[in-house]
Formats: sequence, structure tokens, C-alpha cells
Amino acid sequence: MAILVGEEGRLFTLQTADGTYQMYADEKNVLLHTYYGKKIETENMAELICRTDVGFAGNPPEAAGDRTYSLDCLPQELPSGGVGDYREECVCIKHADGSLAADFRFAGYEVRKGAYKLPGLPALYDGGQESDTLVITMREKASDVTAYLYYGVFERENVITRAVRVENNGDKEIVLERCLSACLDFQYGSYDFITFCGRHAMERVPERTAIGRTKLEIGSLRGTSSHQYNPAVICCEATAGEEHGDCYGLCLAYSGNFLACAQMDQRGQTRALMGIHPGRFSYLLKAGESFDAPQVILSYSDEGLTKLSHQYHRILRNHMCRGAYQHSKRPILINNWEATYFDFNGEKILNIARQAAELGIEMLVLDDGWFGKRDSDYSGLGDWYVNERKLGGSLAQLSGKIHDMGMKFGLWLEPEMISEDSDLYRRHPEWAVRIPGREPNRSRSQLVLDLSRGDVRDYLFETLSGLLREASVDYVKWDVNRSTCDVYSNALGRERMGEVSHRLILGMYELLERLLTAFPNLLLEGCSGGGGRFDAGMLYYAPQIWCSDNTDAVNRLQIQYGTSFFYPVSAVGSHVSAVPNHQTGRITSFATRGHVALAGSFGYELDLNKVTEEEKELVKQQVAQFHKYNSLTREGDYYRIQAPGGRFSAWEFVDEAKEHALLTLVMTSAEGNPFPVHIAAKGLDPEKQYRCSVNGQVHSGRTWMNAGLTLARVPGEYESVLIEWEV
Ligand code: GLA
Repeated sequence: MAILVGEEGRLFTLQTADGTYQMYADEKNVLLHTYYGKKIETENMAELICRTDVGFAGNPPEAAGDRTYSLDCLPQELPSGGVGDYREECVCIKHADGSLAADFRFAGYEVRKGAYKLPGLPALYDGGQESDTLVITMREKASDVTAYLYYGVFERENVITRAVRVENNGDKEIVLERCLSACLDFQYGSYDFITFCGRHAMERVPERTAIGRTKLEIGSLRGTSSHQYNPAVICCEATAGEEHGDCYGLCLAYSGNFLACAQMDQRGQTRALMGIHPGRFSYLLKAGESFDAPQVILSYSDEGLTKLSHQYHRILRNHMCRGAYQHSKRPILINNWEATYFDFNGEKILNIARQAAELGIEMLVLDDGWFGKRDSDYSGLGDWYVNERKLGGSLAQLSGKIHDMGMKFGLWLEPEMISEDSDLYRRHPEWAVRIPGREPNRSRSQLVLDLSRGDVRDYLFETLSGLLREASVDYVKWDVNRSTCDVYSNALGRERMGEVSHRLILGMYELLERLLTAFPNLLLEGCSGGGGRFDAGMLYYAPQIWCSDNTDAVNRLQIQYGTSFFYPVSAVGSHVSAVPNHQTGRITSFATRGHVALAGSFGYELDLNKVTEEEKELVKQQVAQFHKYNSLTREGDYYRIQAPGGRFSAWEFVDEAKEHALLTLVMTSAEGNPFPVHIAAKGLDPEKQYRCSVNGQVHSGRTWMNAGLTLARVPGEYESVLIEWEV
């Protein structure tokens, strides 16, 4: 058991392979956070807390005049608002009398085998034996409100999860004004905050800032986790790097509005928080009702960022992703979007499929434009029936022909949206998210469909399941192409309007769950204008997510680098597209585009009619490379060798047995009279002998990792090199 309980049920030590997380319910029943870091025994680390009389830090009544005891200074598990902790809080409750206060105190605990579930929300799962759960009961001092703090311990993976359930056990209504899922208080040390920020077509670029007294905060109020800020952050020692230093990851398994922040308090302690964004959020709890805040996946590495990433890759691959494709090779796909945009017909699609099949591509994905009135992005969303005139027949006929070629058939959908110019909108204008009496904001000329409504979800389930069944669809690219605003639901009372954004996400999750239960072999690829909803929550439903609408191989180096800190390569949708690249105009070689796409689920997104015979030969070679390397890239350990921004960028995969490694290097700038390129491997077994594919030399792993190798020729700009080591 990884959960050790001491001091008569008041001291909780959560042990993972390399770390310890500890909390202690003190004599005033405040649940103190006493330690998180390198492994220790089960001694009570409350002794690390130094209490002094701090001016203007008030004292709760139980302190009985002891001015050294203040909630404003103590490290806590569930800091709550309005009762004397002036730092950022997890929970804030509005009571029936209008007061805003919450003071949760320890009231009991329960330890269980296996992972906990969260109703309607994604969460890490196990087979019932691979993890342990601790549930701590906290009671609000002056009302009948209970908070259950969930801790999941995945010992081997160095992962601890957190989630909160708030229950109103009283007979009066309360309103949750804020309910974040996790708080991490660091008593000592200086930390940096690493966030992953960006924009559409340039997602998840790391930004590293020292945490000081000025609050660092990122988040989303866009209704999706967003392109702009990813719901995964790292607090690490200021000196931490890829291979050294304490690193703490916080990764939210949620796809909607979120907040992550970090700040140092007046005494130099650091507090980091994560959860649903409290902005425009409130949640009414009538007597007996409860609210579940989504899961935060914490992980600690005592050896830098690489190890932290490996821990996240493993836990997400093994305990978040599900379904038939969780651990299996994904079909190499060809998507017609960049080949045709909206301008296609059935013949064009079949022509692409025919050529693709000859080259060894395994699935045709029919992107946007196949349904309703949809020859542009101004209309049609919501009308999920095929445009037979455009396709020259039914979807089942098209799919049948593609299946007859020995390929799988995939389809683009954007079910969470509605166009005003659609039959669905004409029939059900009340199903669109908009505020009565207020002209709504359009984005990509579309509105958001109200998935908080059961009737909308039923309609979508019926329509989509009919479609998937009839056309024997093997794969769905599930897109969502705008941010939400003008938030309102016609199905909810005014007192519940603060719940709508969250209920939209719950509705989306419920619909996906129903569809995946009905179609267990369906492969889902998440998408939101590329990587606008690339989060751990989506991975519960979709084992791969279109990483970015930017398919430029050089920009992808940056995007895929940032994505790699938390998300496994198996989750990264990545395609070879045409040049000049449609997003940047850049020209890179076919080979380089292939090498960059190999660090992902792999596929093509170009018009095969415009590909030369020579390039077609390259496609065949790339297909062969994909099959050769896929188990390595999909399930191997991923090492960031050289961050983008310098002369070249490089990354490496090493298989579990440490018998096979593949390093990819892409030159990103060229100079006259260039310096040589030197590179060293990582993650090899120091004792094993490896042959290197580029120079045929055999050396020990130790030598390849320490001395490395120098390329005989300096590659030119945008040229790439694959280096393989095999025992
Ligand atoms: C989004 C996706 C693209 C494509 C278009 C279709 O932008 O990210 O890949 O599917 O929608 O409209």
C-alpha cells in the first residue's frame, strides 16, 4: 500500500517510487501540507513548519490567542476563502445569507484499493489494483457542507492525482463561487513556472518565468482548454534542467475553462493552484446536491524535466487513453483538407484514395465539406447528413468503395457547433448558445450548440450513430472550431447560468462516452482548429489529437517540442503536407516533412495528383519507415535532445529494452563555413554495445551518450538526418 496512515489517522504519507507527498491534520483539524519531494520515511514533517507571529496575519478562534497560528501562513491542502488566508484560495462558498466564507476542517478519511472515478469526468483509471485512493473528508465549520478530497497514488509512475467533491448536506442552497481542484504549497525553495502558451497554428510554446510575489497566472475562459494556454504547468527548481532538479507537474484532465497560477507569499512560500477557472463560474448546490471538480494529475521528478515528461507520457498512455487503439498502431491516414479544402466531389476523393492505397496509406479521411450545405465555412454545421449531389452518391457508397480498396474510412465532424444557415438552426434556434436580446459574437461564422441540454445530446447521438453505422466509419476527426462566448442556456434557470460553460463540457464528455460505448472500435482524433483542445481530458476519449493546423515541418519542431513536455507522441496528430507550406509558405524537403511527422501518429494531407513520381517513391519509403519505427515512436521513451531555436533541433526515441534508439535531427539554419554538428545519445544502456547507422561504428551506450558522434557532413538548411543505434 502506497498510502501510509499514522498518528491515529491524522498523518497521511503517500509514497511513490521516488517521491513522498505528506499531509497532516493538526490539533485544530486544519489539513496541513507538510511535504512533497524526494522520498522520505513516514516521520511527521509538520516539524518543518516554522510559526512566528506575522503582522496582519490573523488567528482563527481555536488558536486561543496564539498569534503564531495563522491560516495565512500555513501550508494547506484546501485553502478556502474569507476566513483569514489571504492568499489565492481553492474554494469559495456563498451561503444562503449571502456571506462568502468557507473553512474546511479535517473530519475523517478512507483508504481504498484502485483508482477513483469522477462522475461524468475523465480521470486516470486502473484495473482496480495498480493504484491506491485516499479520500479525506473535510467539513465546513459553520454550514453543512462537506468536501471530499481525493488522492490517487500511482506508485510506480510517480503520480499523485487530486480531485474535490463538494456536497451540500444542509437544507439551504449554497453557491460555489470557486472550486479549484488542487493546491500545492511549497514552504521552501525558489521555483520557476513553466507554461505552454501560443495561438492558433502556433500552440504550446514553453515559457519559463521565476515565481515571485507577482502572481503568475494562465488560463482559459474560451470554453475549451485553448490554443493560447495549455492546462498543464510545471513548477521546478530555478536551476532545474532536462536531467537535474526537482520538477513538479500539474496537469488538468479537463477540456474547458481553467486556471493555473503560482505566487510567492509574504514569507517566501510558493503556492500553485489549478482547476476550473472561477471567472464567470458559479455552481448552485441545492440541498443534497454535489459538485465534482476535475482531476489534477501531479507528478514529481527528482531528476529534471525529461523524467517528468516520461512519467506523464506513461501515465497518460497507460491510464488515461482507452479503447481499441490505446496501445496499437494507428492507421496511416490521408486527409483531403489541405488537398482540396471545400472543393471536392466523390470522384476527387476516390482518386486520392486510389493513389494512396497503392502507396501503402491505410485510411482516407474525408474532411469538412461532405454534409448539408457546406461549400464554405458559412453554413451547414448541424446538418449531419451527406450531400449526395456533391459526393455523387451516399456516404455508405463512398465508404464502401474505399473499404473495397482495402482502406479504412474516416470522417470529419464538428458536432458541438451550429451554423445559423442550417436546417438544424432553422428548426431549433433555441439550441444555439446565445443570450436572449443580445446579438451574439460569431466566430468562423458559427455558433456553439448547447450540449448542456439532454435533448441536444440525444439528437446528436441518434444522428451521429446512424451515420457512423450506415457508412461503416472507422475513424472520426472530432473538431471544435471556435471559442465560446455569449454563454447562456435556454434550458436552465437564471441562477444556473454560471454553470453553463462547465455543463457544455460535461455534455460533450457524455456524448463522446455514449458514442464510444456504442462504437468501441472507433478511432477518435480530437481537434480544435488543430491543437486548441489538446489536454489530458480529451485523451480519455481520443487517443490522438490533431496537434496543430500548422503543418510546416519547421514550425512543427517548436510545437511538437512544447507538446512533448506532458503529452506522449502517440497522442500527437502529425502529417506530411505540401510545399510551399499552406501556413508559412516555407519549402522543406519531402524527407524532412516525413521525419517530423514520424514523431506523431503519422499521415498525409496533400494532393497526390501534385506529387512527383520521385516523391511517391519517398511516400513508400516513409510508409516502410513508419512500420519499422512505430512501436519505438509510439511507446518508446522520448528524449528532447536539442530544443528548437538553435542551429538544429533533435529528439530521440529509445525502446523499453534499450536495444533500439532513433534520433532525428533537423537543421534549422545554415551558415557558410559551418561548424561541425556533434550530437550525443540519451537513454541507452551504458553497458550495451550499439552499432550506429550513420557511421557503422560499434561502441558502448556509455560512449555514445558521453562522447557522442560528429556527423561526417554538415546537413544543409531544413535537411534532416535519422540516426539509429541498435544492439
Ligand atoms: C479545423 C481543423 C482543420 C480542418 C478544418 C475544416 O480548422 O483543424 O484540420 O479540419 O477545421 O474546416
